[in-house]
Amino acid sequence: MRMYDLIMKKRNGGILTEEEINYMVSEYTADRIPDYQMSAMMMAIYFRGMTEAETVALTMAMAHSGDMMDLSGIQGVKVDKHSTGGVGDKTSIALTPMVAACGVKIAKMSGRGLGHTGGTIDKLESFAGFSTGITAQQFLRQVNEIGISIMGQTLDIAPADKKLYALRDVTATVDNMSLIASSIMSKKLASGADAIVLDVKTGSGAFMKKEEDAFALAKEMVAIGNRAGRKTIAVVSDMDQPLGCAVGNALEVQEAIATLKGQGPSDFTELCMTLGSYMLMAGGKAQEEEEARKMLHGVIEDGSALEKLAMFVKAQGGDPAAVQDPSLLPQADIIEEITAQESGYVQRIDCEEIGICSLLLGGGRETKESKIDLSVGLILHKKTGDPVAPGESLASIYANDPQKLEMAKERFLKAYHITAEKSRRQSLIKGTVME
Ligand code: URA
Repeated sequence: MRMYDLIMKKRNGGILTEEEINYMVSEYTADRIPDYQMSAMMMAIYFRGMTEAETVALTMAMAHSGDMMDLSGIQGVKVDKHSTGGVGDKTSIALTPMVAACGVKIAKMSGRGLGHTGGTIDKLESFAGFSTGITAQQFLRQVNEIGISIMGQTLDIAPADKKLYALRDVTATVDNMSLIASSIMSKKLASGADAIVLDVKTGSGAFMKKEEDAFALAKEMVAIGNRAGRKTIAVVSDMDQPLGCAVGNALEVQEAIATLKGQGPSDFTELCMTLGSYMLMAGGKAQEEEEARKMLHGVIEDGSALEKLAMFVKAQGGDPAAVQDPSLLPQADIIEEITAQESGYVQRIDCEEIGICSLLLGGGRETKESKIDLSVGLILHKKTGDPVAPGESLASIYANDPQKLEMAKERFLKAYHITAEKSRRQSLIKGTVME
């Protein structure tokens, strides 16, 4: 087999066989196919597209290019959750202890943040001493003992995707639906869970700006997961404004804790309930959504979800006292209110800009090496559709550096669009894709 022939076949609109895709992925991972040939192939795929069978073959080849996590040592159904990422998305921190408290095993791998969206691992490190750098054995033992563990990407998960993603990033071939779906799903399949619940974001703060694209991506990922024998469900949810009110690492952890106490913002709580219900159904703990929601409300009311978070934090070396007393989390020196100049309604919030505000304050990573300030960020007091009066606070900004605060303030004011007409609140859940 020659890579040249495969590139020409795809360029001319042909359909690659499973054998051809396996050859291309394994040879590229082993550095026996050069970047320039793979770049040409990615561009051919970008323009010609891939069939569902080709997409599944690419996903499976990338999933098997490195370590495949074996979770068979954990009893019960293991359910994973993945979000395509967004601003203020602290869902894993509240949702996983809720679901674990209902008896579904959570064995999850998470990443760090880059750019305007934060990563779960960075947020969890707001608990002093917390570490995700655990071995696979510790990870499995902890899931069996307390029902929940989150580890960093210490294993060699889908190295073909890592290499290909870096190449796509510099050759303008990231935004192809089949390539995105296979990239995300290859990592999920290699991580070993029996069932996967996906949260596909859409809107100004998401990768998929248009709702129809988010649904198309959701359908491709669900088809791949189900064909690979993993029960896969995708929820398409709004990211046209930040999720909840808190944006920034420790502030988001604080909001997740409040949610586990039943005091979280309504949109964030609703998203946890929706995703959590599907996780309980996929994990065989509930037959229908209403029953699942009752169970999730139950573990919030009786405190067991909060207790599960404390057990999880302690098991991974973090200070569980901060779960009861969030003032022990990193705190910023400066808190400044940003007030409205005029009266009206919040028509629109440029979500990505709010993420950039947090980044400018020091809460995000501009490069892989950047050190982040866990204490900084924003608490939004007004969301889309809310009325505002002059002098009312739109948000509190948490900062440690007056210069960075000024930069973030300037950016923030451009992100909020206030107009005289009443505006509609956005629906949070756009729909669900199951098959
Ligand atoms: N996230 C991924 O992991 N892969 C993509 O291709 C796009 C987003």
